[in-house]
Amino acid sequence: MSAKPQESVLVVDFGAQYAQLIARRVRECKVYSEIVPYDISPGEIKSRGASALIFSGGPSSVYQDRAPHPDPGIFELGIPILGICYGHQLLAQDLDGRVEATGIREYGKTEMKVTGDSILFEGLPLEQTVWMSHGDSVQGAPSGFQVTARTAASPVAAMEDTARRLYGVQFHPEVIHTPLGKDILKNFLYNAADLLPTWTMVSIIEQAVEEIRANVDSNKIICGLSGGVDSATAAVLVHKAVGDQLTCVFVDHGLLRKGEGEQVEDTFRRHFHMNLIHVQAQERFLARLEGVTDPEVKRKTIGEEFIRVFEEVARDLKDTHFLVQGTLYPDIIESGTRDAARIKSHHNVGGLPEDMDFTLVEPLRNLFKDEVRAAGEELGLPEEIVWRQPFPGPGLAIRIIGEVTAEKLDILRDADDIVLDEIKRAGLYKEIWQSFAVLPDIKSVGVMGDERTYAYPVVVRAVTSEDAMTADWARLPYEVMERISSRVINEVKGVNRVVLDISSKPPATIEWE
Ligand code: XMP
Repeated sequence: MSAKPQESVLVVDFGAQYAQLIARRVRECKVYSEIVPYDISPGEIKSRGASALIFSGGPSSVYQDRAPHPDPGIFELGIPILGICYGHQLLAQDLDGRVEATGIREYGKTEMKVTGDSILFEGLPLEQTVWMSHGDSVQGAPSGFQVTARTAASPVAAMEDTARRLYGVQFHPEVIHTPLGKDILKNFLYNAADLLPTWTMVSIIEQAVEEIRANVDSNKIICGLSGGVDSATAAVLVHKAVGDQLTCVFVDHGLLRKGEGEQVEDTFRRHFHMNLIHVQAQERFLARLEGVTDPEVKRKTIGEEFIRVFEEVARDLKDTHFLVQGTLYPDIIESGTRDAARIKSHHNVGGLPEDMDFTLVEPLRNLFKDEVRAAGEELGLPEEIVWRQPFPGPGLAIRIIGEVTAEKLDILRDADDIVLDEIKRAGLYKEIWQSFAVLPDIKSVGVMGDERTYAYPVVVRAVTSEDAMTADWARLPYEVMERISSRVINEVKGVNRVVLDISSKPPATIEWE
């Protein structure tokens, strides 16, 4: 189940990297938008009740043998369409205009002149800078279309057929390098397609709450909390909808960062007054991890134990048939296409067994991460949860190289807390994707006072990233590194050295195991 507003724009995807950005921009204009594959049928578009379509750009040339084309019936639906770049060329070619490979590429910032009356450019200057990236170009608009803009190399940089409500632009209005791009999109949405900017955080929450109520009815429902923003926001939304019918389960496997358990208690039990089962399973997990050094075995052991604990709690909650999951929209988009080699077996609170007999409730399945954060803020979640850096399900165990012991966990937790504290004090917490400490399985010699020490080093890992698929090491200021180093060595017993990980991903990964 999911909360979907009545008005929606479908972004027809002709090349994955463009479609997401377009959908995000449309949503920023407060109109709901979803991505659909290019071979969607007209019937499906109708049954989804789409209010407008946007054809995305894409890497193909309309001339290629197997270039993706939309079903021609789509043009008969009477739904407004905006074609962008490749989408613009498709409109031209499929409606009998002229697209040519002139050999002149336009790439980057390009000056464009608006040449006629236009809905897309209404209220905007006649000369604009736009971002282009194309080889083929539209040389002749199809009949019924007015040419509304040109550039030096594109005689038809934009065109519109207001009677059929079809619009095309050769440039990319969705990228920030087209400064007026959002205004052009707004003109399409509000003026060409007559949509209203009603998709706001308040309406998103209201709609989700209504849907959850309708689906869950008077049944009981459980939600696994991880301490992260997704499960927290999902839980608060469901609680807002069905109150005490919800029980949250927080499995403390003892591999959490400092203070995390208390914060979950504080937020959910004391602030939101939710039913919370806080399972203290630290000893159980430590026992299972005894002697385990292989990273994959560690991950699998923790994942399995987590499931076992969760199942036991769920069994005790009789008559509970619904389970909340914090699935996000990018998971949905990617699950259809993801074909990556398994580098590490991931586990998170979502990684529950398939044979558990629950109906899933996924109130965030249409939202991007930043929208989830905005919803979390609107729902009153504390900033520390809303802006928390990602944290892996297996927790500190995969940041301790070698066997996980209570002693090493204490060292790492304290060192990690100092790293985070200093990163926050320097105002870098939000701009850095993840920053944390790692404890390797070696010791080195040092000298403290007049004494020889033989103790662990701590590795500082801080990375910047967009989506964790790739990452770069963060260039932390020397002063911040200095404070981290001196505090960790002075305040954490058992550590006599601090080193910095300066590897990017690939070839390294963000976590050490
Ligand atoms: P790597 O180490 O593969 O990590 O570069 C990429 C991102 O995924 C996080 N991560 C996990 N998240 N369960 C999770 O929920 C896991 O088992 C897991 N392992 C890694 C990691 O923190 C980084 O953000």
